[in-house]
Amino acid sequence: MILQTKGIGKSFGSVLALREVSMSVEAGHVTCVLGDNGAGKSTLIKILAGVHQHDAGSLLVDGAETRFGSPRDALDRGIATVYQDLAMIPLMSVWRNFFLGSEPRKGLGFDVAKARRVARDELRAMGIDVRDVDQPVGTLSGGERQSVAIARAVYFGARVLILDEPTSALGVKQAGVVLRYIARARDRGLGVVFITHNPHHAYPVGDRFLLLNRGTSLGEFAKADITREKLTSMMAGEAELKELAHELERD
Ligand SMILES: Nc1ncnc2c1ncn2[C@@H]1O[C@H](COP(=O)(O)OP(=O)(O)OP(=O)(O)O)[C@@H](O)[C@H]1O
Ligand SMILES: [Mg+2]
Repeated sequence: MILQTKGIGKSFGSVLALREVSMSVEAGHVTCVLGDNGAGKSTLIKILAGVHQHDAGSLLVDGAETRFGSPRDALDRGIATVYQDLAMIPLMSVWRNFFLGSEPRKGLGFDVAKARRVARDELRAMGIDVRDVDQPVGTLSGGERQSVAIARAVYFGARVLILDEPTSALGVKQAGVVLRYIARARDRGLGVVFITHNPHHAYPVGDRFLLLNRGTSLGEFAKADITREKLTSMMAGEAELKELAHELERD
């Protein structure tokens, strides 16, 4: 296991955001984190990413107990995070966004030819066909932008790729594009943490599924141990949906 949490917990003042959550991330596998709004998904991955520190339980990297002081610490251990509001500059070119602060240098400036070439090759290796790496990143679709962020993390040596709801703002077709890159990153040997509230996005690509509900874990399931139907019904909160249907009925 590259990454593991054991009974991890986190409070913000009097709000218990996460309690007793255990999960694991393995190289070449996809761990999906599912849960409704406010379930604690982002809080959990921010602990993995070094943004927050846990105040209960333990975090293990390569089997050793670890505590990250900052996102830089996590990145140095190969844990890269792609947030939903991507840190990209829309008016800057695809290649500038690909490097963003880590451009190859030549003399006093950037080695632009190399940067263009690397960006194009890396995107192509992930199966991303960007016609022109000089075009502003803002002209790409949401799915393509997510894909550029994924390719960048892979290029800069990530071992674990954390994606916070990369498909939630996308239509069916673009979500499919992002799911393909998740599978590609997995096939290249990365451990992927895929946060979503859509079981239909999670099930096809996931190897294990952690379900969160109001900060607590409903369990971590290997794919062999849970069907798509079970995952969907656990996510939907069957009882709550029935109650809602009843409430919405006409008198
Ligand atoms: N920095 C913070 N300060 C105080 N409370 C917070 C903070 N971050 C999260 N919380 C609280 O922790 C709980 C879990 O939030 P979190 O963002 O982890 O949920 P989520 O599963 O990512 O939800 P969503 O699907 O809406 O993104 C919520 O009640 C939220 O209000
Ligand atoms: Mg969130």
